[in-house]
Amino acid sequence: MTHWTDQGLGGRLAALLHAAWHRLRVLLAGRGGPPPTGPEPPSRKPGDTPTPPGFLNAVAEAEQKTPLPPPPPPMPDEDDPKYADDPAAYQRDKQQAEAAASAFAEAAKRRGAAVGAVVSDWLGTAPYVMLQELLDQPRDRMPVFKPAVGPVIVMRHPEVIRCLERTDLFTVDPYAAEMARATDDPSKHPGAYSHFMLGTDNDALYRPDDVLLRRVVARSDGPMLAALAREEAERCTRGARESGTGEIDVVKTLGKFVPLRIVADYLGVPFSESGQPSVLPGLRGGDPFPLDTDLLDVFSFRKIQQGLVPTSDDLYGWVKDAFRNIFNNFNPASPLFQEFRERGLIATEYLSAYIHALIRCYKARLMAGEPVPDTMLTRLLRLQLQVSRGEGETLGQDLAALLGAPLPEGELARRLSDSMVRSNVFGTVVGAVVNPQEATGRMADSMLRLQEGHYRVLNDATYQQAVHWASVAEDTVEYPRSLETLRKYALEALRLQPQGEVLLRRCAKDNTELGVPIRQGTPVFVAYAAAMRDPGVIAEPLAFDITRDERLAEYLADRERHMEAPQSQLYLQHGYGRHKCLGRYASEVTLLESLRALLRLGALERRSPLQMDAQNLYAESLRVGWS
Ligand code: HEM
Repeated sequence: MTHWTDQGLGGRLAALLHAAWHRLRVLLAGRGGPPPTGPEPPSRKPGDTPTPPGFLNAVAEAEQKTPLPPPPPPMPDEDDPKYADDPAAYQRDKQQAEAAASAFAEAAKRRGAAVGAVVSDWLGTAPYVMLQELLDQPRDRMPVFKPAVGPVIVMRHPEVIRCLERTDLFTVDPYAAEMARATDDPSKHPGAYSHFMLGTDNDALYRPDDVLLRRVVARSDGPMLAALAREEAERCTRGARESGTGEIDVVKTLGKFVPLRIVADYLGVPFSESGQPSVLPGLRGGDPFPLDTDLLDVFSFRKIQQGLVPTSDDLYGWVKDAFRNIFNNFNPASPLFQEFRERGLIATEYLSAYIHALIRCYKARLMAGEPVPDTMLTRLLRLQLQVSRGEGETLGQDLAALLGAPLPEGELARRLSDSMVRSNVFGTVVGAVVNPQEATGRMADSMLRLQEGHYRVLNDATYQQAVHWASVAEDTVEYPRSLETLRKYALEALRLQPQGEVLLRRCAKDNTELGVPIRQGTPVFVAYAAAMRDPGVIAEPLAFDITRDERLAEYLADRERHMEAPQSQLYLQHGYGRHKCLGRYASEVTLLESLRALLRLGALERRSPLQMDAQNLYAESLRVGWS
């Protein structure tokens, strides 16, 4: 076993993750960055020695500046006969070996931080230049990018798919810690679960939740989702028309309110504008409410003393703050770390208190036989009620058939407890706003690029054709085809301008699955954005073509995913394999309906670039005019 992997791993891993996370937009993540073709490498600091441009040269330079000493010798064995009469020699050799190991570990830590910083810089400023450079390397020499010390970057299509499939080797563990904050406090509720599906690859934890959650957020909801998304998207464009400005900010309207509508009316976590009646009896938007004692018994509130019925701004702010703390706040050295952590924790507490209040409210109504809206939250409560009334036998049998074995006694009730309903709804809501918002902005930006002639167009996939399909009326024979075509436009636009570039995994055991040895503990950046433009697999990858083969593949279609649509191996924006986006149906429909409503406004004209926030993490604005 080489020494660097075992020594100082924790420190190295932490340093690498810190360096890389600022850019990483995972589950739920996106980021800014230049256009795919923008050849801008990271800026050089004054006084730095010039090096040939390029990511690999920058890595080589970082490696030269952080040399590694020779690998330390093995630890001496006290029982070695050579020490039999010379214990002092054993002590001396042991001290030397320990010193060498420690020097090596320190050097490896410095090297890891330096390489991690280069990766982070390039991901943050010129991701596509970097990924293209990696794709351009001879395949036999570089199946994946793997420095001697530092994170692995998987950029080629076959390896990206393989990596996402092998959840036994490459796990989502790096997401786990911050996700646990929305679960019960184990000191108050021993034995409580502290996972969310995107933070675990432990089969025993993941699979039952997978079956339950994909039953209540399901493919069959397509028509309901389409109606919601259309109504909200058209409300946004109507509002823009009525404003008289002749301009719409895609990110601030469609990108924000269509996802919030899905959160409200599909996931079951609505907002109420200030002073407007809310679903909680007697409470209005902006009203405080006391924290429930049942919740206080299991969950620790450290930041807030009372709950709040959220307005749209509150709910949006909570989701964004919680998302940022979970996925984009991993560098304690950052000046904003404390503020983002604090805001994330406050948001997590408000959102948890509110979801709990909704659970109480709907549960009471369900038990009284009163009608409730059909949402993810109430569907979970119905299942809970079924099980608590001893009517869960069929559900239990279903799960046993899909999972291949019955759940342990009482497990179904545990998975459907108030705590699990709360944290599962929390995790899903947190994934359902920030990513869709940026994806909507990116998709619209990409469509404007198509209009502006940035892409080579194949098979008549022109902007004008998209405008035509958006204008097709509902009562015509062309209508179903128009929706399918617009869906392809949305996905192709997002393929060329995705809302993120990499997913994060951690290598769980030493393996050579991706063609090179990768050691346990190594952070792995899975560059799905590069895979979607890998010329080895995707023909003319930089051209805009809505007739591409989506390369549909069944995933666990004979087991727990039997109700799921096959997964595309071309459009990877929603991930692939086990952790394929739970909101994939909601999200495709959101993108399609937002695109349709936007194109129906009139002849569009870009009024601004897609603008990101100060940290280059979240989409803030994209102004589009029409005539
Ligand atoms: C355009 C919008 C969206 C995009 C681009 C997107 C993207 C993604 C991606 C890339 C993943 C996989 C993460 C990984 O493997 O590391 C994912 C997972 C997930 N997404 Fe989405 N998402 C979107 C919308 C939504 C919505 C609307 C919801 C909720 C209804 C949602 C809930 C989730 C959840 C719960 C997971 C974890 C699934 C699992 O671990 O099995 N997402 N999403």
